Amino acid sequence: FAAASFLRGIRFIQVPTTLLAAVDSSVGGKTAIDLPAGKNLAGAFCQPSLVLCDTDTLNSLPLDIFRDGCAEVIKYGVLGSRTLFDTLAEIPSGETLEAVVAACVEQKRDIVQCDEFDRGMRQLLNLGHTFGHVYEAAGGYAAYTHGEAVAAGMTQMLRWQIAHGFGGDFLLARLERLLARFGLPTAIDCDGDTLRRCLTHDKKAAGSRITVVVTERPGEGRLEELPLESLWEDMP
Ligand code: GLY
Repeated sequence: FAAASFLRGIRFIQVPTTLLAAVDSSVGGKTAIDLPAGKNLAGAFCQPSLVLCDTDTLNSLPLDIFRDGCAEVIKYGVLGSRTLFDTLAEIPSGETLEAVVAACVEQKRDIVQCDEFDRGMRQLLNLGHTFGHVYEAAGGYAAYTHGEAVAAGMTQMLRWQIAHGFGGDFLLARLERLLARFGLPTAIDCDGDTLRRCLTHDKKAAGSRITVVVTERPGEGRLEELPLESLWEDMP
């Protein structure tokens, strides 16, 4: 964010030192800071000149930090790659970790090349983040890590879509088992008032509508535009 703002932008290189940064935030040029009203509300698009990812560094991470990044890795499997989803039966390490990071980055690269400024298909990358950002804000950005919030956000979105006729029962059961194996939560308590307050400030909301990502089977994520209030009314 500093590089994007200083002198209206200077060149910079990203050297991700967490799995979360390697597969998501270092790639695609989104920079931002959180405001009291919500996450990432002030920012700019600014592409790095280079992203340098050393998987040996990732192997040195404490297990809880590594697992936290796995939520975003699992997201890529659910969203766009059944092969990746199936690979994640075990926590990735060594050469598998390199292949997994590459698969995530390639998926993100392909999406960002089609929609750098997040006006359409890039919103697919928000899978799990609609409810996830609410959990992070409700917890004051301290009670839950981003990975925990995204993990619970993906399962909550699946529960929502199943309750609203979009299907996905089998995927939800598989995802819950997978997240539990990675030590990630499958639900976070949140009341309807908090949901309404936080979702109203969500960047993906436009007036009374919001675009969310639904997935019936691993690798088949798609965008659906909905009335905003349907996300807190009749919650499963
Ligand atoms: N982290 C979501 C995106 O880069 O679009």
